[in-house]
Amino acid sequence: MDTQTIVILDFGSQYTQLIARRIREQNVFCVVLPCTAPIAEVRALKPIGLILSGGPSSVYDTDAPNADPTLLALGVPILGICYGLHFIVHHLGGKVLSAPKREYGHAQVDIEDTANELFESLPANIAVWMSHGDEAAELPPGFHRTAVTSNALAGIANPERRIWAVQFHPEVHHTPLGPQLIRNFLFNICKAAGDWTPAHFIETTVSQIREKVGKGHVICGLSGGVDSSVAAVLVHKAIGTQLTCIFVNNGVLRKNEFGAVQKNLRDKLGLNIVAVDASQRFLDQLAGVTDPETKRKRIGAEFIAVFDDEANRIAKETGGVEWLVQGTLYPDVIESSSVKGPSQTIKSHHNVGGLPERMKLKLIEPLRDLFKDEVRRIGRDLGMPEDVLGRQPFPGPGLAVRILGEVTPERVALLQEADEIVVAEIKAAGLYSKIWQSFAVLLPVVSVGVMGDQRTYAYTAAVRAVHSEDGMTADWTPLPYDVLKRISSRIVNEVRGINRVVYDITSKPPGTIEWE
Ligand code: XMP
Repeated sequence: MDTQTIVILDFGSQYTQLIARRIREQNVFCVVLPCTAPIAEVRALKPIGLILSGGPSSVYDTDAPNADPTLLALGVPILGICYGLHFIVHHLGGKVLSAPKREYGHAQVDIEDTANELFESLPANIAVWMSHGDEAAELPPGFHRTAVTSNALAGIANPERRIWAVQFHPEVHHTPLGPQLIRNFLFNICKAAGDWTPAHFIETTVSQIREKVGKGHVICGLSGGVDSSVAAVLVHKAIGTQLTCIFVNNGVLRKNEFGAVQKNLRDKLGLNIVAVDASQRFLDQLAGVTDPETKRKRIGAEFIAVFDDEANRIAKETGGVEWLVQGTLYPDVIESSSVKGPSQTIKSHHNVGGLPERMKLKLIEPLRDLFKDEVRRIGRDLGMPEDVLGRQPFPGPGLAVRILGEVTPERVALLQEADEIVVAEIKAAGLYSKIWQSFAVLLPVVSVGVMGDQRTYAYTAAVRAVHSEDGMTADWTPLPYDVLKRISSRIVNEVRGINRVVYDITSKPPGTIEWE
């Protein structure tokens, strides 16, 4: 089954990923390419339509994004958005001028060409979001104006050439009828089938993996998180016992996590999992260490050592391992290839260091076309349990970066108990899925308390709960007082060794989400 593809050329707009989201919400697959992509790369995708994104530049800027204008003659329908409109006008013989007044924010658009396929089912006047400094002053031959605001042009079209463009942003929430305009482009103009469903994705991905891997053996590092779990389940569906998953207990997992992950993925979903309890090795490495960076480095190095040992053992047993599964997601892929340039750091979750090169492993990244919520949809379709799919992010170095000062087995046990109470109470209040992360931190601060008739001298736990879109910035969450009250009273009463609970009210920046 061929996948119909819309290609979005990224001219550097902050909204490019949103365009992709809006298209995929219509069950149509799309890819984002930098605007500098060679035309052969665009052609190779056999797109059913092309979208030219907005961008911060003016077409006359010396460093304006440099796309190949022959794209405009590719023969597939094209929708230009904002800068995309200027690009079309500029390269097809019209004139773009700096607008006397920069139009930015809410605007009302009058649709003049109400018969235009792009505007089907839209009223004659719509609220939109504008953000531009330039304006098309003269239209290229064959184009006509389709929409206007009170002081500027808002849309143009040349239906014979199959080119449409709008000055406003249909992809943002502030253009409430934007989704209808995007549907019109996809279904009226590009004749999309809208069949890019989880079932379709699973079917095509599974057959691609089978074809790629052949009879080879594949390993996958499980972290217990959503991405590596869904990636593993997809690959398992494709090649069954040719996949071995490695799940390492690094001694700083959450309470019962080592067992729960195995239960969910091995017992419920049938994955072949090698569960390695290397707690002691990690705790030995952490003994006496208080510096956060040293903790992270030691955990990282030990993880690679354990993973390497297991991978070599599996290679001997199976006659060789050729492939490694990684749970890379689409935002990481776009970030590394966008017009911002390849110098941007690529965030790589479940990073297994230099292992692929050292073991000469080839990568399988079955989720590299997906956004996070699409990964969850696919996981649901694969029959994965909600408590795997709905999991909040958890850092690779685990509880070690939430135990300030030295990590000892006693402190790990205390934090596991306190953390379990925080998560249980937040779940009971129905807040778990609404919060980006919620957890406890163990502080090396001991203070005096009183319990019954007895004086106590014990540790302090901090409670952290944050809202975030992507972990890059975060706001502390104002948890309801009754939830905080239950958390505090349960920790102090149930966790012997903690007698004080405080609430972290720091956002990021200037704080970070984790304390180390
Ligand atoms: P910070 O503490 O930098 O965290 O505000 C941002 C997000 O990243 C997670 N995090 C990690 N994830 N390995 C990971 O896989 C790590 O070493 C790591 N450190 C932080 C953190 O939980 C938050 O979601």
